[in-house]
Amino acid sequence: AEHIIIAIDGPAAAGKGTLSRLIADRYGFHHLDTGLTYRATAKALLDQGLPLDDEALAADVAHRLELSGLDRDVLAVHEIGEAASRIAVMPAVRRALVEAQQAFSRRAPGTVLDGRDIGTVVCPAAPVKLYVTASPAVRARRRLEEILSRGEQADFDAIFADVQRRDARDMGRADSPLRPAADAHLLDTSEMSIEAAFQAAREIIDAAL
Ligand code: C5P
Repeated sequence: AEHIIIAIDGPAAAGKGTLSRLIADRYGFHHLDTGLTYRATAKALLDQGLPLDDEALAADVAHRLELSGLDRDVLAVHEIGEAASRIAVMPAVRRALVEAQQAFSRRAPGTVLDGRDIGTVVCPAAPVKLYVTASPAVRARRRLEEILSRGEQADFDAIFADVQRRDARDMGRADSPLRPAADAHLLDTSEMSIEAAFQAAREIIDAAL
């Protein structure tokens, strides 16, 4: 094939973003964090003072999104993530963004896409699929440490509740719920360092390619 796709899915704060970047660097592939496409769409609505519950309007904004302008630092804000998971339940929004993600996935020599529905919906024929997860408590702990390391204040209980609410919305929605593809390799990073997770991922990828 002229392009190879590595699909990486999992819940919020499981470490799939860091892992995806390491994998893309290692194999020389292009990387797309598809969560940023939902976040950028939500941010555009918020910035223009537009409602988050108008599906046709949100889909229109999603259609006009430029993948080249996605800025992780600007989109990391908590409120944007929350708004993103609200518009991500809308089928018309998903159709628009999935189309852009699929176009990206065909870049040579290969791509790494990470998100919630890459192995199940966006790139179901990907030769390598990873489902990266960790317990809710571990994910909340990691997010807390990340926030504290930036010198900001945060509370474990609030973050833990947030992780659980996001999981429930992502796993419970009707269109493209978060779940492992039947042929995905499960990688539970609850008790793994990022280095150990990267090593495990490389072994899975090298065996599949
Ligand atoms: O991964 P991230 O936290 O940036 O994603 C923000 C939200 O976008 C998620 O909670 C999820 O609802 C949505 N999303 C999605 N499908 C993807 C990626 C993200 O529904 N492929």
